[in-house]
Amino acid sequence: NKISIIGVPMDLGQSRRGVDMGPSALRYAGAIEKLEELKYQIYDLGDIPIIRPDKPNTDHDSKLKNLKQVVEANQKLSEMVDQEVTKGHFPLIFGGDHSIAIGSLAGISKHYDNLGVIWYDAHGDLNSSETSPSGNIHGMPLAVSLGIGDDKLTAIGDYVPKVKPENIVIIGARSLDLGERELIRNKGIQVYTMHEIDRLGMPAVMEEAIGYLQNRTDGVHLSLDLDGLDPSEAPGVGTPVIGGITYRESHLAMEMLEESSMLTSAEFVEVNPILDEKNKTATVAVGLMGSLFGEKLK
Ligand code: ARG
Ligand code: MN
Ligand code: MN
Ligand code: MN
Repeated sequence: NKISIIGVPMDLGQSRRGVDMGPSALRYAGAIEKLEELKYQIYDLGDIPIIRPDKPNTDHDSKLKNLKQVVEANQKLSEMVDQEVTKGHFPLIFGGDHSIAIGSLAGISKHYDNLGVIWYDAHGDLNSSETSPSGNIHGMPLAVSLGIGDDKLTAIGDYVPKVKPENIVIIGARSLDLGERELIRNKGIQVYTMHEIDRLGMPAVMEEAIGYLQNRTDGVHLSLDLDGLDPSEAPGVGTPVIGGITYRESHLAMEMLEESSMLTSAEFVEVNPILDEKNKTATVAVGLMGSLFGEKLK
C-alpha cells in the first residue's frame, strides 16, 4: 500500500508542445488526494528534470527526434523506478509522452523474470527508426522494450530486452503502421483491437487478457496512453484516433485489473492540457486511477 509517484514532464518524444504539462495536469486533477483517500501511503518524488535542447533536433544517423534528450531522461527515470521497486513501493509514473515507457520498463523489468505488459493504447508504439513514419520516439517504446530499435534506446538500464513478446497484451489498437502489423504477426503479440472489444465486449477481453497474463507472468505493468480512450472522452492528447474505448469500458477494465491484484506498476501518459477541454482528460485519468486502486470497494 505504498505508491511512489514520479512525474516525467517530457514532450520530446513527439512534436507537439503541451504533453510536458501532463504531470501538472494530473496533480491538479487531484491524483494524490484520490489515492490518499483510498488509504495508500503516497511518496511523491516530484518531476524528473528534463533538459530541453535549444531547438528540436533530429539525430543525423537515425532520424530519431531529440534522441539524446530522450535517452537521458529515460536513463534517469529507469534508475528512480528501479529504486522504488527495490523499496517495495508500487511505481506510478505520470507522463509525459509515451517515450517514457522505455525508462519505466527498464527500471521495473529487471526485478521480474517475466514481466507482463498491458499496453492500453490506440497505437502499438512498435516502430523502429526504419519503420517509423514520423521519427517520433513515442511511437517506439514497446519495440524498444522488445530490444528492437536504436541501440542507445534499447541499452537503457544496461540489459536487453526488457519484455518478451508473449508477455505483452495490447488493448484498444486502431492505428497500426505497416511495420507494426508485421512485428505483431512475427512475434505473436496478443492484440485486442477495437474490433475485438466491439465483438467480445470489454468484460470478455479483460477476462481473457488477465487469464493469459496470470499464467505466464510474475508481475504486470499497465502502460495507459489516454489516446486509447475515445477522443470525445479524452480530447487532450496529441495523436487522437476516432472510434476508441469508452469511459465506462475503461473504468470496467481498471476495476477488473484491480480485482485481479496482478498489477505491480503503472503509468498514465500522453495527457496534453493545452489540447484539452478544461483539464477533462487528466480528470478522466485520475478517475481511472481511482478504479485501478480500488475505489469501487469503498
Ligand atoms: N504510429 C505513429 C508513429 O509512429 C503514432 C504513434 C503515436 N504514439 C503515441 N504514444 N501516442 O508516429
Ligand atoms: Mn548519432
Ligand atoms: Mn497512442
Ligand atoms: Mn502510446
